[in-house]
Amino acid sequence: MRYAIVTGTSKGLGAAIARHLLEQGIHVIGIARNRNKELIKVATERNVSYQHFICDLANGDQIDHVFATINDQIFKTGTQRVYLINNAATVNPIDTVANHTMEAIQAHMQINLVAPMLTTSLVLKKAKSYAIPTVVVNITSGAANRSTYGWSAYGASKAGLDRYTNTVALEEQELNTNNKAILFDPSIMDTSMQQDIRSVDKEAFADVEQFKRYKEEKQLRDTTVVAEVLVNLLVDDDQIENGKYYSIKQYV
Ligand SMILES: NC(=O)c1ccc[n+]([C@@H]2O[C@H](COP(=O)([O-])OP(=O)(O)OC[C@H]3O[C@@H](n4cnc5c(N)ncnc54)[C@H](OP(=O)(O)O)[C@@H]3O)[C@@H](O)[C@H]2O)c1
Repeated sequence: MRYAIVTGTSKGLGAAIARHLLEQGIHVIGIARNRNKELIKVATERNVSYQHFICDLANGDQIDHVFATINDQIFKTGTQRVYLINNAATVNPIDTVANHTMEAIQAHMQINLVAPMLTTSLVLKKAKSYAIPTVVVNITSGAANRSTYGWSAYGASKAGLDRYTNTVALEEQELNTNNKAILFDPSIMDTSMQQDIRSVDKEAFADVEQFKRYKEEKQLRDTTVVAEVLVNLLVDDDQIENGKYYSIKQYV
């Protein structure tokens, strides 16, 4: 049996990834603050399980608690593979640095960086003690590699996630485990995150008009297309290169 833990499955890319994994016969454990009834339907049709955990990833104690339950369920005899897909993220606060509040900065870094670090640590600890090959996929963004006016928090958290993932991959290689850690950059997609981006004024986000044009000119990718590429990569996981930065742009 193969299990995938996917964060942010209530909508957007996470929902599409979960759907494709279920269609491939992989059991999915989804995490978000809101449920997704559609995924339960897909799971039933495909004779696999979709289990949802309500969890606010801004809260470390909730992550600890939820992952203790999840790990007890999936790390067992008969489990051949585990995937951990850290997809949930926020782009907020979008604003110039001097307008950031402590609460907004802390919540942002907790959701985008601390949560994936914590989930990776908790899952790899179990993967090691059970010797079950585990693939960690951290969803990144081009924003990690360039500065965007108004996106200092998002750029910083994604750049941190990139370095973290590369270091996890290095350690797993040195330790000679069967575990892998990769980055996947989905590029711009038509999700509620893009709605958030378009709703900000020019003083807070200098490139807002350009992002409105992306939508008007239909340049935002469909999450289904992006999720299919990632899931195709994962089902053939012997081909996955530990530590690699995969970008959707290499595929579609
Ligand atoms: N959209 C783009 O153009 C784009 C471009 C590059 C990279 N990305 C990356 O792709 C990934 C998916 O983005 P998306 O566009 O699909 O985003 P989205 O539509 O805004 O969905 C975000 C998901 O994350 C969950 N989430 C957010 N905050 C959470 C919290 N505090 N606790 C638990 N879950 C939380 C949301 O669930 P709840 O609200 O139900 O909790 C939702 O399921 C992100 O890592 C993003 O940085 C997106």
